[in-house]
Amino acid sequence: MNDQKCKVDYEQFIPRETGFIFKFEKKDDTFVHTFIEGKLVEKIGFFPELIVGKTLSEFLPAEHALLKGAFYEKAWNGEHVNYEGSLGGIHYLAVLSPVREQGVTVEVIGTAIDITKEKDREKHVQQMEKLSVVGELAAGIAHEIRNPLTSLKGFAKIVKESVADQKLEPYLDIMLNEMDRINEIVNEFMFIAKPKEHVKFQDTNFSQLLHDCIHFMEPQANLKSIKIESKIKDDMSLNCDRNQMKQVFINLLQNAIEATDDNGHFINVRLDDMSENLVAVTIIDKGCGISEARFNRLFEPFYSTKEKGTGLGLLTCKRIIDLHKGTIDIESKLGEGTTIRISLPKIHGCE
Ligand SMILES: Nc1ncnc2c1ncn2[C@@H]1O[C@H](COP(=O)(O)OP(=O)(O)O)[C@@H](O)[C@H]1O
Ligand SMILES: [Mg+2]
Repeated sequence: MNDQKCKVDYEQFIPRETGFIFKFEKKDDTFVHTFIEGKLVEKIGFFPELIVGKTLSEFLPAEHALLKGAFYEKAWNGEHVNYEGSLGGIHYLAVLSPVREQGVTVEVIGTAIDITKEKDREKHVQQMEKLSVVGELAAGIAHEIRNPLTSLKGFAKIVKESVADQKLEPYLDIMLNEMDRINEIVNEFMFIAKPKEHVKFQDTNFSQLLHDCIHFMEPQANLKSIKIESKIKDDMSLNCDRNQMKQVFINLLQNAIEATDDNGHFINVRLDDMSENLVAVTIIDKGCGISEARFNRLFEPFYSTKEKGTGLGLLTCKRIIDLHKGTIDIESKLGEGTTIRISLPKIHGCE
């Protein structure tokens, strides 16, 4: 079979824009590529000259080459092989079909198509499933935990106030702090399970609300010599749930403070009027930033890089912003800092 024939055979099956065709043979016990064509080759960062006449290890990192080599071997032994791979941020699905003459493989024809979109969708569905499991769990146990926790906290406080032995006081403080933490997690759980049940829209002086949040977080920032600088347009009003909005900005400011070293850096908060019915809040920190790998997981429940993190903060923010028909955009560079922008409609028809 010559290259021209192969082209004609496969052209009708492979969307050239989103796929590629390749062929290889086994020469002196190694697989050598004899042909490759299709736009996806360039998209994944390669070009035909880099591949034709070459073995896998000549253009792929060692571990990739080893993995693909095993698939190639299977195909060479006469099997049709399917595998998924990822290169240059593109996910692809490849099929290897051996061409056999009188029971002997003479070459293998491979086809690959871009499945990045499908993969993203699959990931989204998985995340939604994970969320609904979290939701069920939350609804089931959060209440059960809250009641006994309230008694525990109440009695621990009484004990703390009446205990004579000074040495016990730090232990009681730790107990009370840990109980606060459990309470926080339980509350976030309950909110994530049923955010709509809790929502209460009110006309709100949004500028004041932001000032209040900053004021609330200032002591924590001061402890790390971080200054929160704000440029907040006065008297902006917004139809929103006040408590939920406070939760959003306290969460975001908390993350910004946690990301910033104790080095006197600034955190900037801005409130701008974007259009007749749109406001934007921007929070900029010069903290540790977020790596690309972490970036894709930010809104996953329980994803946290902090020892004491719950990994529910950003997800809760997103839920609240979604309920307010707003958007949340994050830009970040590792080692340089993070910018979070929340856009919100001033008035919206709530469902
Ligand atoms: N401003 C920020 N700078 C750097 N990393 C951040 C920032 N905000 C969030 N992150 C990353 O996102 C993760 C999830 O945040 P979040 O949902 O608030 O959970 P938690 O704060 O409990 O870890 C954090 O652990 C952190 O790695
Ligand atoms: Mg957080």
